[in-house]
Amino acid sequence: MSRILTGVQSSGMPHLGNILGAIIPAIELSKQHESFFFIADLHAITTVKDAHTLRENTLSTAATWLAFGLDTNKNILYRQSDIPQVTELMWYLNCITPYPMLANAHSFKDKADKLSDVNAGLFTYPVLMAADIILYNANIVPVGKDQLQHLEITRDIAKRFNHLFGDTFVIPDAKTQDQHMIIPGTDGQKMSKSYKNYINILESEKMLKKQIMNIVTDSKNLEEPKDPNTCHVFQLYKLIGDAAQIEDLSNNYRRKGFGYGHAKNALLELILEKYQSPRLKFNELMKNPEHIEQELKRGAERANKIADSVIKKVKTKLGLM
Ligand code: TRP
Repeated sequence: MSRILTGVQSSGMPHLGNILGAIIPAIELSKQHESFFFIADLHAITTVKDAHTLRENTLSTAATWLAFGLDTNKNILYRQSDIPQVTELMWYLNCITPYPMLANAHSFKDKADKLSDVNAGLFTYPVLMAADIILYNANIVPVGKDQLQHLEITRDIAKRFNHLFGDTFVIPDAKTQDQHMIIPGTDGQKMSKSYKNYINILESEKMLKKQIMNIVTDSKNLEEPKDPNTCHVFQLYKLIGDAAQIEDLSNNYRRKGFGYGHAKNALLELILEKYQSPRLKFNELMKNPEHIEQELKRGAERANKIADSVIKKVKTKLGLM
């Protein structure tokens, strides 16, 4: 049976793009395959330098997975830093990773013109990611397209170790999202934390409404018929609604007297209706952080057992024991 593993860098409360593009599809996969999901807080500290923010981000990310129904009896949800073996393995891997491989990584190269801003953690980010994956013998790693190069690096490092020390690690495969799952943000670009164009479906209704009202539209007035296919509001609605709802809204766009304000309200109502249960669950969990911590601890205990056995094998191969 395939083992799925993926990490989410906890850069804040997951937005609609994260949820539709990564979290829901991963939870679907986890129904058929044993899955490992973790909150990549060690990767996050390459950029986040505030304890309160990091803690909150970890909790809200874990709460999102739980609120969307991840079954933690069957699957393992844990916090990356709860398994110190991952940083241990990272060191071993560091010692076989060629410098140019890391110098060529986009995540580093994009910042190479301002080296004073690059910390060593950012440079070795892909090695930690390799350790994350091969520590648990994962074979399938669902990731966004931006992470494909990191997966290639992971495969190269694992193969290199196997070549130098004998068969030890499983060589993982990346699994990317379908092309059509690019989720537009409020400005029509890909929804992303860094573009500040996201919609947070787990936020209070007031905040959610504000974000939806900010979706950019053209300036057609109320009386003009509108083309749903060029409208970002409709694109988002299409990702969430069922066939009949989509058809209804599409017809409304084409008739007089239906404005973008109406379309935005329709999107707000759809989100509130469709995600009512995860929104409730998320809020309950955030009021009970001890419950989230318990879940993460339980996940860590199980992950820890596998990590221990792999580390023993690696240390033996290296001659460290
Ligand atoms: N770097 C990934 C991202 O930003 C997060 C991540 C860390 C990850 N470790 C991983 C993803 C291991 C998959 C497997 O999206």
